[in-house]
Amino acid sequence: MSEERFSPGLAGVIAGETSIACVEQGKLLYRGYAIADLATTCTFEEVAYLLLNDELPSAKQLQGIKDKLAKYRPLRSEILDALRRTPKDTPMMDVLRSMVSYTGHFDPVKGEGEEADRERAIWLTSQIGAIIAARFRLMNGNEPIEPMDGLSHAAQILYQCHGEVPDPLAAELIDLTLVLYAEHDFNASTFTARVICSTMSDLTSAITGAIGALKGPLHGGANEAAMEMLCKFKSGDEAKAWITNALANKEKVMGFGHRVYKNGDHRADILEGKLRKLAHQLGEETWLDIYDAIRHPMVHEKHIFPNVDYPCGLTYYLLGLPLDLYTPLFVASRITGWSAHFLEQSIDNRIYRPLSIYVGHGERKVPPIDER
Ligand code: CMC
Repeated sequence: MSEERFSPGLAGVIAGETSIACVEQGKLLYRGYAIADLATTCTFEEVAYLLLNDELPSAKQLQGIKDKLAKYRPLRSEILDALRRTPKDTPMMDVLRSMVSYTGHFDPVKGEGEEADRERAIWLTSQIGAIIAARFRLMNGNEPIEPMDGLSHAAQILYQCHGEVPDPLAAELIDLTLVLYAEHDFNASTFTARVICSTMSDLTSAITGAIGALKGPLHGGANEAAMEMLCKFKSGDEAKAWITNALANKEKVMGFGHRVYKNGDHRADILEGKLRKLAHQLGEETWLDIYDAIRHPMVHEKHIFPNVDYPCGLTYYLLGLPLDLYTPLFVASRITGWSAHFLEQSIDNRIYRPLSIYVGHGERKVPPIDER
C-alpha cells in the first residue's frame, strides 16, 4: 500500500460531500447563507430549522419548531432520577453523554426514516437544553424547574438554570453563540456522528458518540480550557509574561488555531466584537487586557488566530456561567448540525471504512506459554 496516501489526522482528505455547510478559508455558509448574515438576523431556532430542512422557516414553520421544542422539553422522572443518582463529581460533559444515551430509551418518536429522525433531532435538541439546566440546578442544591412558556431556546436554558427570566442581553449573547456553534462540516464530532450513522445505527447513538468526541480540549472542550487558562492571570502583564514563556516552550494555547482557517475564524471575529462591548459595559476591562495579552503575540508573532472557543469562553464567563457549562452549551447547539449530517449521511450512505498502514511485527509463531 502506498504511504503517499497517508495523511495523519486525515488532513486534506476529502471524506464526503455535504450541502450543509461550506467551510473555507474566507467563507462559512450554512445551507448557502453567510454566518455573519445569519448571526445578525436569525435566532438559533431559525438556524436549527434551516440546518434540518435546507430552507429558512416561514413564520408558521418557525412557530412549528418552537412548539415542538416546547412540547419535548419536560424531562421524564427517570431522567431526573438518574441525574440525582449520578456522582456529584462527574464532569458535566460526561453526565450529558450518559443522559443523552439514557434518554434514547424513552424516545417518544415512533418509526424510522428521514421524517422520524428530523423529529427526533428536535426532541433531542430540546431535551439536551433541559438536561444541562436540571443538572446545573441539582449541583447547586436546587430542584430542577419546569420550563416557562414563550422563552427562546437560549433564554429557556438560562431560565431553567437560574430560575429567573434572564437579562435580554444574556439571552441574546447565548443565542448568538448557539448560532455560531451550530454547524461546521466534517469536524471531529460531526465526522464521528457520520461514521456511526454509516453503520446504519440510530440517531441517539450518533449524538452520544459525537458528544464524546466534542468533549476533548482540541475540539469543543477548548472553550473551557481557554477560560481555565485566562483564569490563571490577574492582569494583562501576568498573561503577557506567561504567553512569552509558553511560546518559547512551544506550548499549545487553547482557543487558537484551526485545521481549515489559517487566517482567522469568522465566528471568532463576530463574537469578539460582542465580547468587547459586553466587557466595557460591565467595566471588566482587566479581562480584556488579559484576553488581548494572549491574543496579540499569538496573532502577530505566531500568526495563529483565535478560533470561536477563545472569545466564547470569556463571553460565557462574563455572563456568570460556570466553566463546566461551556462545552455542554456547545452540544446544545451542535446537536442540530450533527443531526443534519446524520440525515444527509442516511440518505446517501456508504459505510466508512478507511485503511491503515500496518507498522507492527512481521508474522511470527505463537510460542508455548512457558516460553513467553
Ligand atoms: N497553540 C500553539 N501552537 C499551535 C496551536 C495553538 N493553539 N495550534 C496550532 N499550533 C501550531 C502547531 O504546534 C504546529 O506547529 P509546528 O508546525 O511548529 O509543529 C502548527 O501550528 C500547525 O498546527 P497543527 O497542529 O498542524 O494544526 P492541526 O490542524 O493539526 O490542529 C487544532 C488544529 C485546532 C487542533 C490546533 O490548532 C489546536 O490544538 N488548537 C488548540 C485547541 C483548540 O483551540 N481547539 C478548538 C478548535 S476550533 C473549534 C472547535 O472545534 O471547538
